[in-house]
Amino acid sequence: MTKTILRALRGEVLPTPPIWMMRQAGRYLPEYRATRAQAGDFLKLCYNPDLAAEVTLQPIRRFGFDAAILFADILLLPQALGADLWFETGEGPRLSTITGPDGLARLKPVAAIHETLAPVYETVRILSRELPKETTLIGFAGAPWTVATYMIAGRGTPDQGPAHALKAADRATFTALIDLITEGTIEYLSAQVQAGAEVVKLFDSWAGSLKGQDFTDFAVKPAARIIAALKARHPGLPVIAFPREAGQGYVGFARATGADCVALDNSVSAEWAAEHVQVDGCVQGNLAPHHMVSGGPAMDADIRRILAAFRKGPHIFNLGHGITPDANPDNVARMIEVVRAGC
Ligand code: CP3
Repeated sequence: MTKTILRALRGEVLPTPPIWMMRQAGRYLPEYRATRAQAGDFLKLCYNPDLAAEVTLQPIRRFGFDAAILFADILLLPQALGADLWFETGEGPRLSTITGPDGLARLKPVAAIHETLAPVYETVRILSRELPKETTLIGFAGAPWTVATYMIAGRGTPDQGPAHALKAADRATFTALIDLITEGTIEYLSAQVQAGAEVVKLFDSWAGSLKGQDFTDFAVKPAARIIAALKARHPGLPVIAFPREAGQGYVGFARATGADCVALDNSVSAEWAAEHVQVDGCVQGNLAPHHMVSGGPAMDADIRRILAAFRKGPHIFNLGHGITPDANPDNVARMIEVVRAGC
């Protein structure tokens, strides 16, 4: 019996959509906080295969999701390419910055990444042994534009200003960085697949700040290149793409990139996405993460609206972005109950 997520990704319309959740292993779970404390900090947790596998499995044990997503971070690849990386408590990631050709020249060649990332591949191997047989293992990476925004600015930024500035001022350095991340992402995801990942997902969290030709050049084209290379090496590998806040850019994104599924944020309506995005294949996501904090009848109603909108096509139930640390696990359990009840 093929796993439900793989069936949906192949375009099958299932009576009950499979379900998983972005950031399902995270701070809203007391067992995650305990394991992170045991590891020491977030990055030590990412590079400890036994503990990273443990936190990946925790939400599967607690809720029985249909997929597990490897516990790691999109910023491990920049670190493997030679960027400094640390996390400021309560603030988020910090990296060394890239402001011109010198910063780019200090990075390592793509072939060097596996030395740093070997523990991540070991986590994938442990998970492919230990996950329940019906649970799909999803590997992931950041898309080149999103990863570049952090490598250029050295941190998360509200408008990705530093990355847009480098793109305007020094196009050669900017495009060389995008190319390096693109090649690194192909090797990183390919190694995850070799270790046992059954699906891979590309997170382009800041795709929404690319407009017009920039969206084509730096969101569509790198994704298309990564997906083509992965599918050439791993025939039949399903890929989920998440060009967050792409708006009209969601239309045709699956066709243009070769993705099998497009993940939707919660700024677009499910009814619109059913008509304009699901026509090309599987869609995933769209439930606003704030429902996981407040729950109640408003959450139930939104879940049922999304189920109804996507009923006629392939669909994987998910949030429109990651679950937040202040979420209540009881609301997660209720979401799964409503989705599986199908009404
Ligand atoms: O989804 C999962 O359960 C798998 C693991 C995963 C993490 N990060 C773990 C994490 C995944 C898929 C990511 C992706 C990621 N990381 C993205 C793309 C998706 C998105 O959220 O837009 C981005 C932009 C990052 C970079 C990053 N990592 C930021 C900006 C932060 C700080 C914000 C925050 O939530 O604290 C992180 C930290 C991070 N990555 C945490 C987790 C569980 C929290 C760290 C902690 O435990 O303190």
